[in-house]
Amino acid sequence: MKIMVIVAHPNLNQSRANRALTFELAKHADIEIRDLYQEYPNWEIDVEREQRLLLQYDRVVFQFPFYWYSCPPLLKKWFDDVLTFGWAFGPGGDHLKGKEFMIATTTGGTEKEYRAGGCNWFTLSELLRPIQATLTRCNGTYLPAFVTYNADQGTDAYLADEAGKYAEHIRASAQALVH
Ligand SMILES: Cc1cc2nc3c(=O)[nH]c(=O)nc-3n(C[C@H](O)[C@H](O)[C@H](O)COP(=O)(O)O)c2cc1C
Repeated sequence: MKIMVIVAHPNLNQSRANRALTFELAKHADIEIRDLYQEYPNWEIDVEREQRLLLQYDRVVFQFPFYWYSCPPLLKKWFDDVLTFGWAFGPGGDHLKGKEFMIATTTGGTEKEYRAGGCNWFTLSELLRPIQATLTRCNGTYLPAFVTYNADQGTDAYLADEAGKYAEHIRASAQALVH
């Protein structure tokens, strides 16, 4: 299975959590890791290139720090620019049919805070629904997300442990993830 991980962190060099996650993935030669903010410093996304790349992979992972209950803005722009009418959806827009998509995100908040009655009110599964709806509208298969909670307070050992679990998660079969 060919996997592409699109990392959207405004400053991956100064990140702790997302850097730990990508550091672990880099040990796996079968995973292609990309740094979106580094590739597009001017935010001019090469749509044809992105669409060509999407076709080459079976599973695409979007990895990002959770910002105001959503993804950082360059990734939102990537969705806006790349998932075009007639290519990703609408008449003839079946290029992503059956492709697997997954979210991997890191949060400042703890898991307890992301539940009904917690200070963030909703679970991550609920808050990720706009992205889920986008990807399934484009005929993709949406797989369970990987979430590292409490990323800012986590020790290096905690983040390394999460990174190991992350590498397993994104390489697991859809069957194993769903059941
Ligand atoms: C602009 C901004 C918005 C943020 N919004 C949230 C949020 O909505 N929920 C949350 O749990 N953490 C939020 N955080 C905390 C980040 O998710 C956290 O610092 C990040 O996941 C840590 O990863 P890193 O070490 O790779 O930067 C926010 C941080 C910033 C800078």
